[in-house]
Amino acid sequence: MIYDDMPVLKSLKEYAASKVLPFHMPGHKRGGIFQRLGLEYLMDNIIEMDTTEVPGIDNLHSPQGAIAEAQNLAARAFGAGRTFFLVNGTTSGIYAMTMAATKPGDKILIPRNAHRSAVSAAVLGKLHPVYMMPEVDSYMEIAMGIEPKTVEKALEQHPDAKAVLITSPTYYGVCSDLEKIARMVHDKGKLLLVDEAHGSHFVFHRSLPISAMEAGADMAAQSTHKTLPSMTGSSMLHVKGERVDIEKLKFFLQLVQTTSPSHVMLASLDAARYIMENYGHRLLDDCIKYSNKVRKEINDKTSFYCLGADKKDSFGIHDIDPTRITVNLKGGGISGIKGEEILRSEYNIQVEMSDICNIVAITSVADDEASYMRLLEAISDMDRWSRKENIGCNQAKPPNSIPVCLMPPHEALYHEVESIEVEKSQGRISAEMAVPYPPGIPVIMPGEQISRDVIDYLRQCTDIGIKVSGVLDPEFKNIKVIK
Ligand SMILES: Cc1ncc(COP(=O)(O)O)c(C=O)c1O
Repeated sequence: MIYDDMPVLKSLKEYAASKVLPFHMPGHKRGGIFQRLGLEYLMDNIIEMDTTEVPGIDNLHSPQGAIAEAQNLAARAFGAGRTFFLVNGTTSGIYAMTMAATKPGDKILIPRNAHRSAVSAAVLGKLHPVYMMPEVDSYMEIAMGIEPKTVEKALEQHPDAKAVLITSPTYYGVCSDLEKIARMVHDKGKLLLVDEAHGSHFVFHRSLPISAMEAGADMAAQSTHKTLPSMTGSSMLHVKGERVDIEKLKFFLQLVQTTSPSHVMLASLDAARYIMENYGHRLLDDCIKYSNKVRKEINDKTSFYCLGADKKDSFGIHDIDPTRITVNLKGGGISGIKGEEILRSEYNIQVEMSDICNIVAITSVADDEASYMRLLEAISDMDRWSRKENIGCNQAKPPNSIPVCLMPPHEALYHEVESIEVEKSQGRISAEMAVPYPPGIPVIMPGEQISRDVIDYLRQCTDIGIKVSGVLDPEFKNIKVIK
């Protein structure tokens, strides 16, 4: 087989042939939705359409034709003043909006559990990140929303901060109170940036949480590819109001993106907008109905718990995305990681991700009733035959406070570093980050001082099998510190 000699192509071909039911991104779920809605041309001609900026094909970095028109249509559909298409994911949107809102040396307020691109943006922009602690649900063992009062306090303590970045919704589908936060941030004359990677669909249905644009954010970056039918890595950055310097933003968008964008990805963004404008409400009706049915059945008939509206108004949760299926398996004695493995090996279903207690399934307008029911049956069946083991959830107690920051992350990363035993690192400045899952909150960041509490907590986490991501040594015996 010629494909044996092309490992990437081979792996993709095999995954497609396996007919795994995808409850993961991208939201087009293998493109079936394009076929159903008469857009099969996009599906069938990807390589033929792949081209560069020849006459008749617009330029992403100074659009005047089709791309400008498509971005305007998107701005209207997503309730923005301006919309920029992105070919390097929300990651690039977070970089560009953060740097457009600040200048080197500025402070920015970000949630401690923000996606790593927010911290990377602070590194690129030479910023001083000031972290705000999200609320943690001790049963689900995950970080939830940011309370407006946490933002208020951070704004009072750091009146010189230039902007506030909020992640809403989170990976688990949890939304913070963006309207309230927007009012507070604007009252202090600062910019509100929202990492809305998982919320591109919100604006298309009134039963979904309010979108960041509607809530009053100045900029919001959305991974269209996660929850809407566009290609992996295609995203949008929306801007509203007069507070953002658009020319500066355009400069940074050019800086963080390739000069050879994929026009097929751009076309898929255009198609996603078209589908949602024309069919979105009806398709989301189904998506919400079937997701809620799966949630209710799991909660009524299994020993698992599916995150839902009952958690609203606790743990910083202002709203919940009903289309996100986040299931805590510990009541059934299965770890999230094991649950993900079982769903794949026994039921040919792949979920988006798992942590020690939870699995997360991404649903989208491309899923049909049969897919939801297959997921529900698999989860219910898994509950019936699972051995009720006592899974090792995170009994470790995290340190009460965020470590002292002795240098901003960009300085720490350019410093000379050395690798030393974790046990001997007390008092040293970390050159890496350590993020135990759960709850997904970094315990130490580059530039922060390692305390005894931090060492003890991370040691307990690794002892009970909690995955500590971000660290270079997977066994966590050594840590890189500033020399
Ligand atoms: C909360 C959050 N923000 C940002 C990103 C980055 O998005 P992208 O993959 O589109 O660059 C992710 C990716 O998983 C995410 O979960």
